[in-house]
This record gives sequence, C-alpha cells and structure tokens, in this order.
Amino acid sequence: KPVTEATAVKAPVLPDAQTVTDVKHWTDSLFSFKVSRPASLRFRSGEFVMIGLLGDNGKPLLRAYSIASPSWDEELEFYSIKVQDGPLTSKLQHIKPGDQIILRPKPVGTLVHDALLPGKRLWFFATGTGFAPFASLLREPQTYEDYDEVIITHTCREVAELEYGRQLIEDIRKDEMLAELMGEGFADKIRYYPTTTREQSPKMGRITELLKDGTVFADLAIEGGIQPDTDRAMVCGSLAFNLDIKKILEDFGLREGANSDPKEFVIEKAFVG
Ligand code: A2P
Repeated sequence: KPVTEATAVKAPVLPDAQTVTDVKHWTDSLFSFKVSRPASLRFRSGEFVMIGLLGDNGKPLLRAYSIASPSWDEELEFYSIKVQDGPLTSKLQHIKPGDQIILRPKPVGTLVHDALLPGKRLWFFATGTGFAPFASLLREPQTYEDYDEVIITHTCREVAELEYGRQLIEDIRKDEMLAELMGEGFADKIRYYPTTTREQSPKMGRITELLKDGTVFADLAIEGGIQPDTDRAMVCGSLAFNLDIKKILEDFGLREGANSDPKEFVIEKAFVG
C-alpha cells in the first residue's frame, strides 16, 4: 500500500528546534553543550535566550540560559547545572549529539557592553553557572577594544566547579584564531581570580568578603580599589550574591546601568535550578 500524506508517520517536529552537536560533563552537577545556530539569530555577547525541551504534557518547558559562546561563533554554547528533580535539567542533562532542543530566537539581557559607560578596567563577578555570559564576553573582541584590563572572578563551592571556566580561559590564552580576531596581546589583559568556599584551594573565601577586606586588591596589586571613573562591572550569580555585590559596588560609588541607561555596573541573575 503506497504511503500517502495521511498514512505516513512523521517524526514530531519541535517548534524552534536546534540540533545538539556536542555535550561535555564537568561534574555530577555541571555540564556544557553546543547546538546549531539559527541562521537568522543575531545576539550581543552576554545576552540570554529561552531554551528547553518538550515537557511530558507536550508543551515546551523553557528556561532562560545565557549564551556562553561569543556572537561571532557558528554554534551556540550553554553551561548548565544538573538538578536531579529539576523539571528541565533532570531531562536536559541526558541530551546527546543529534538530539534536538527548543531555542526561542529572541536574545535579551543587560550584561552587554552597551549598558556600560566607557571605562578602563572591566570586572566580571560570577558564582557557579553565572560564569556563562562571561564565557561569551571573554571571547568578544569589543571587550578588549574597550578595556585595558579584564578581571574575571569566579566563586564556587568546590575546585571541580571552576574547571569549565579555568579551561576556557586557558584555551583563550593560546588560541591563535582568537589572537587574530582580538588583536595580538589581548590575552595579557585577562586576569583570572578563582575562589572556593567549601574545598581547599589556593584562594579561599566568598569574593564579596575578599572585596570588603581588600584581599582582592592586594592580590591583584590594584591601588585605590574599585573606582567609579575607571572601573566597570558585570555581575552574574545567585540572587543573594547579586544583592551583596550590588551593595559593595554602590559603596564604591558605582551605579547600576541598563541598556537604555548605561552606567558603571550591570547585574543579571544566573539560572540556578
Ligand atoms: P558559600 O559556599 O559560602 O555559600 P551556590 O552553589 O549556593 O549557588 O553558591 C555558589 C558559590 O557562591 C559558593 O561558593 C557560595 O559560597 C557563593 N555564594 C553564595 N551566596 C553568596 C553571597 N551572597 N555572597 C557571596 N558569595 C556567595
């Protein structure tokens, strides 16, 4: 019997489907993955999109994820937590190359260069998977065109949770294609400051405490601390972290900016569950 339109069994087609091309598991609770990029998708490094899977009820189950790859890249990269009973990540953690995910092609976000006034030194403050937007911005040429120095701090509970960021920065430093794109010597502008809070490592403590007691400035030989005329900051972590850093930056005299109203720092909540 010939297969007709009516009798053919069609594979279900996801709305806004993209194909998974690579998956890396970093710890029991962290993984990163790459997906194909819709030809029409334009975004600014640091922005996020809604991604997800079809839920059991047949409806899309979507969450906001920072794009971890830079705006010029052919593929899209994401960095995610795995929560065993998390509605989305309990499933998403099992994706394999060739699988499809849903990606709504509407990038938005405040962790973008347009939301900051010109400055000399740019701080990226991240906890946990809040590193993701900075993985994008660290590979964005404008970051090095606009600033003399880029300081990335990353606070995690354990050493293994730093590995995605540590390796990314190590790779950036020796990538010849990036050096061509960003200009020779760009990597010398990056200063990486990882800290852990629950496992022994060379630098322990919450970055908030290390800022308040001046340890960060002593370690990095920065005189005068954070200053509103030269220093700019982008923050991405848990809600509590963001509030604490906001207070610290405001005490240094920095003001929170937005796309429509650029100032000295911007904040966005990392997806945490
Ligand atoms: P701590 O271990 O002292 O809670 P989480 O896994 O809970 O999202 O935290 C990720 C990292 O961010 C941990 O190292 C944690 O430190 C740190 N952290 C959590 N909340 C804050 C905060 N309000 N200020 C500074 N660091 C924080």
